Amino acid sequence: MTTADDLIKFAKKALRNKKFIVAIQREPYIHTETPDGIKLQKTAGGAHILLDGILRQIGGLMVAIASGNADSQVVDKHNRVLVPPKEKAYTLKRIFLKKKELDGFYYGFANQTLWPLCHAVFVKPIFSAAWWDMYYKVNEKFADAIIEELDSEEAFVWVNDYHLALLPKMLKDRSSKITIGTFWHIPWPTHEIFRICPWRKELLQGLLGSDFIGFHRGYHVDNFTECARRELGVIVDNEPRSLEYGQSQTKLANIPAGIDYHEIKAKLERHKNINRRIFKTHYGITTQYTVIGVDRIDYTKGLIERLKIIDRFLEKYPEFQEKFTYLSIGAPSRIHIPAYKALNREIFDLVEKINWKYSTSAWQPIYFIDRVLPRERIFEYYRVADACLVTSLDDGMNLVAKEYVICSENDKGMLILSKFTGAAKDLKTAVLINPYNIDESADAMFSALTMPKDERIKRNKAMEVAIKENNIYKWAIDFINKTFENL
Ligand code: F6P
Repeated sequence: MTTADDLIKFAKKALRNKKFIVAIQREPYIHTETPDGIKLQKTAGGAHILLDGILRQIGGLMVAIASGNADSQVVDKHNRVLVPPKEKAYTLKRIFLKKKELDGFYYGFANQTLWPLCHAVFVKPIFSAAWWDMYYKVNEKFADAIIEELDSEEAFVWVNDYHLALLPKMLKDRSSKITIGTFWHIPWPTHEIFRICPWRKELLQGLLGSDFIGFHRGYHVDNFTECARRELGVIVDNEPRSLEYGQSQTKLANIPAGIDYHEIKAKLERHKNINRRIFKTHYGITTQYTVIGVDRIDYTKGLIERLKIIDRFLEKYPEFQEKFTYLSIGAPSRIHIPAYKALNREIFDLVEKINWKYSTSAWQPIYFIDRVLPRERIFEYYRVADACLVTSLDDGMNLVAKEYVICSENDKGMLILSKFTGAAKDLKTAVLINPYNIDESADAMFSALTMPKDERIKRNKAMEVAIKENNIYKWAIDFINKTFENL
């Protein structure tokens, strides 16, 4: 199994004489004003937490957008601050955006154009030239911030995700001393879908500034290849996959992201005395079965389908009524976007409807908590929940699925996982579902909750081995390795 030490050793060798820089939209640490002074908070899970884990091991610079109301008060004149406060392991350089810029870049082009364009969930992308301009401008701000940090030295820049598609080319145009690896965490659509985007060529050209582009799944590599071939006429080499465009050569591969197995196990160790009474203490839940769901509230996560599955499950298996509770932890997300506002309303209405349908004076089937909870609290819930529902309609990876499996007590929990997540390819022994098929998914829930102990243990062990093997350190080493291969 690959360890943090392996990554440190590897990075020292692979990145010798090179500055390590991560460019990412979301910062892992925010500073906020409170009545007791400025407080530092770690933001909730996602790719920024993976990259924070890597930077804490090997040091370097992270460039990200400022998001805390006291962020500007703690940075130096180059907008830098050392994080985390005790370890001071790496430098976080913040980019400060005006509200208009954030609106066009993040709420506009990134999340109302690219997000629905790339996820096959039938939400129409919106194409706005004003948003595109802001997206371009903010990508340029990242390029400026990175170039400002370079002297004459060489650098390796890790570009994270769909917010920064134009950055690779912008950096390559400004310096020949930068090697770039980009990881695209969300799906890449087929050409039939991608071709509707007015800025499709610019997006592809931007990304082809990378030396390497990583995706979670092979079909996203294929979709990207096909888009680049049809739109830009790239020359495709298949062994290994690489695209030649003008003078540039970009390698592509799928390297599914892993999680920090050890860190999570160590955290759990501190909570090993937790038992299911925690649900009673925190929410008054006393039922025999508690099923958990942990998500950003996003239309790609299949949250409406999930509620329908629960409704059908209680209808079809009435013996579970009063014995079963679904606890949903939903982190509010992108709330200024109309589609997200509508989703929140729809969820609340449906939760109310289902609770009204089945509740008795002593029991309600669903608890919906719409706030961010500390990671360790969620791990405690994972540990003792009887099952976890991941119902994404389309999802690049889904790290909740992996976290649940390693936190849950092997003989108790079972993961019910949508086939349409990248994680489903790594976690083959989960109970796999098509969340659009409500009836079959309700049956799958029944079989997960009534599965014989031996089988649960066997399936969980197999998943745990896969997660342990393909952990975050292996992912980071593979990513850096691929980027520098044949350079
Ligand atoms: O799924 C892609 C992704 O970028 C994740 O890495 C991340 O957790 C999520 O989207 C976060 O979105 P946002 O930054 O909008 O909260």
